[in-house]
Amino acid sequence: MVRRGYRWGLGCAGVAMLAALAAGTAGPGAAGATGGQAWRREAEQRIETIRKAELEVVVEDREGRAVQGARVAVRMQRHAFPFGTAVAESLLVSPAGEQYRQELVRHFNFAVLENALKWPNWETWGRTTGQRALEWLAQQGIPVRGHTLVWPGWQHIPAWVRFLENDPAAVADAVREHILEVAGALRGRVVAWDVLNEPYTNRDLMRLLGDEAMVDWFRWARQADPQAQLFINDFGILSAGGEDRAHQDAYFETIRFLIQRGAPLDAIGMQGHFEEPLTPPERVLAILDRFATLGKPIWITEFDVDVPDEQRQAAFFRDFLTAIFSHPAVEGFLMWGFWDGAHWKRNAPLFRRDWSLKPSGQVWRDLVYDQWWTRAEGVTDERGRFEVRGFLGDYEVEVSAGGQSQKTTLRLSREGARVKVELDI
Ligand code: XIL
Repeated sequence: MVRRGYRWGLGCAGVAMLAALAAGTAGPGAAGATGGQAWRREAEQRIETIRKAELEVVVEDREGRAVQGARVAVRMQRHAFPFGTAVAESLLVSPAGEQYRQELVRHFNFAVLENALKWPNWETWGRTTGQRALEWLAQQGIPVRGHTLVWPGWQHIPAWVRFLENDPAAVADAVREHILEVAGALRGRVVAWDVLNEPYTNRDLMRLLGDEAMVDWFRWARQADPQAQLFINDFGILSAGGEDRAHQDAYFETIRFLIQRGAPLDAIGMQGHFEEPLTPPERVLAILDRFATLGKPIWITEFDVDVPDEQRQAAFFRDFLTAIFSHPAVEGFLMWGFWDGAHWKRNAPLFRRDWSLKPSGQVWRDLVYDQWWTRAEGVTDERGRFEVRGFLGDYEVEVSAGGQSQKTTLRLSREGARVKVELDI
């Protein structure tokens, strides 16, 4: 396990924390798969700045006097940052999926259905299975992104729509009906939609209906589900060594076009299906910088790394996660499946088919549930205070003194959080 050489404690000043971070040894397995190390220190400092805030616990007795020396335990329960995965919907609803469901709940706070909500599937098996899967996820308190309303290549659209090809207005209507129907049916059940998927390589509908049609699709999605965050999503932006400039440029221009035409586009999805050549983290950061100038949040929506060497996969995963978590425009990360037994490339980031953890699975645990996870214990000072800088998210706080003990919960957001605990002493 890689551990930083510090632990949060009482009165640990911000500057000292940064120094400790910088001095912290990277540990085994932390060597980059790609690129040098200079970016890493800067990334870790940005993470410290943008992903954490001050959490203050004040302990008083029943007369409202500060209690010095009370024991305080601060335990993170859940990340505010979405760390998610695509899910094989059938495993969420069948007895065969027990371990799958357990590991899902254990490792993720966000999900996307891998296939059920795609147009052709929705019209066959997807509606029933998809809705059951969404119900199960809602019971677990796991928010879901919808994927995807329009994937504008004929191979991703039901065959009956193509029979209307000679009547573009009828095709446009079919798309409209579909968007209104699905996004309407799942209103309040998904928090986001990939309205438009892979527009660079799937241009059949744009060829038939014109680029302006894309603006309509966003408008109809907004109309059907006004609360959902509306995404465009594409592959080949961060992957391909970061060198597919033609794809990057086209994506950038499509997003700019949509914004200029007033499409209600809320966020940018970058899929992130990696294979050789892997993209150096510096290049990942530069591409994110460029797309951040469009002024919309960016999510990594479909991460995986299909390389045969597990150590290389893990090292790249560590670098990539560190880079994207450090970027201020990035507001979510989802991998495209977590288990080799249900993965489109049979090479998932976390688990082998027999459920043994891959090195990259260890990276996930080290980063998401250790280095970027806050647990702190200590005692209150003479003002009755205990302070810690923690990762944004939900917390349980336990306070004890004079034989009394009390638990409370709080949410730590960018502005910080302060909680007062009154003990009956
Ligand atoms: C893939 C699924 O993982 C497969 O199970 C399915 O057979 C084909 O689609 N980009 C996307 C995803 O937007 O919807 C794709 O998912 C992977 C590439």
